[in-house]
Amino acid sequence: YKRVTVKSLIEMKQNGEKISMLTAYDFSMAKIVDSANVDVILVGDSASNVMAGHETTLPITLDQMIYHASSVVRAAKRALIVVDIPFGSYQSDSKEALRSAIRIMKESGAHAIKVEGGVEIKDSVKRILQAGIPVMGHLGLTPQSIYKFGTYTVRAKEEAEAEKLKEDAKFLEKVGCFGIVLEKIPANLAKEVADSVSIPVIGIGAGGGVDGQVLVVHDLLGMTHEFNPRFLRRYLNLYDEMGKAIGQYVADVKSKDFPNTNESY
Ligand code: KIV
Ligand code: NA
Repeated sequence: YKRVTVKSLIEMKQNGEKISMLTAYDFSMAKIVDSANVDVILVGDSASNVMAGHETTLPITLDQMIYHASSVVRAAKRALIVVDIPFGSYQSDSKEALRSAIRIMKESGAHAIKVEGGVEIKDSVKRILQAGIPVMGHLGLTPQSIYKFGTYTVRAKEEAEAEKLKEDAKFLEKVGCFGIVLEKIPANLAKEVADSVSIPVIGIGAGGGVDGQVLVVHDLLGMTHEFNPRFLRRYLNLYDEMGKAIGQYVADVKSKDFPNTNESY
């Protein structure tokens, strides 16, 4: 397998090849995602929701992110592995931010980190980049700021917020980030941003005018059936499929159909 690198992502943008990105938080899922040739695996802090059942991404810790990331690293042979730096581990000061980023890189073996925010975290972003750690930005609906927004609705519909987002994107490019995630913003704004920077812009709920797409793998597979944003395309309904299979197992145990003689020693 030829490993996808931050350099190959920039080349993909230059060649007009769209980048595919998907989350994974554990070994078994990461193996499937990697084998399907997904370019970038994001060990997202959405693990807080999807894996741990929290309502927001805020509670997940640096140690927990490192645990998820190291599991993914052991599985993925081809994809570039990007890890979310969790809430509270990079906002207080740039030294702590760098320390957190170093822990992720050293203890998990992942290839890059992702931060939420723009100019307000400039010192931290610069410091992490100076240590040679590739950084991806994340703008628009940044879930670690959900209590500031108060809702999960589309961001940057108003001029002021759109202008700030464009400035943040230019800042992240200038300072040396290798890519930017744009979450839940108008498609025309996302396209404008993607056209204005040389680094890849990966969208989620940001339309088709960007350089690539990212989804939470459990959403794409239909394992999280109560989550229904319009940007989500469901490729399977695994919630029902898995429920049916497990229900059949229960019935087979109860009826003594399982195990049969071929399944016994
Ligand atoms: O944590 C996550 O899954 C993310 C993606 C939705 C971009 O940040
Ligand atoms: Na995230």
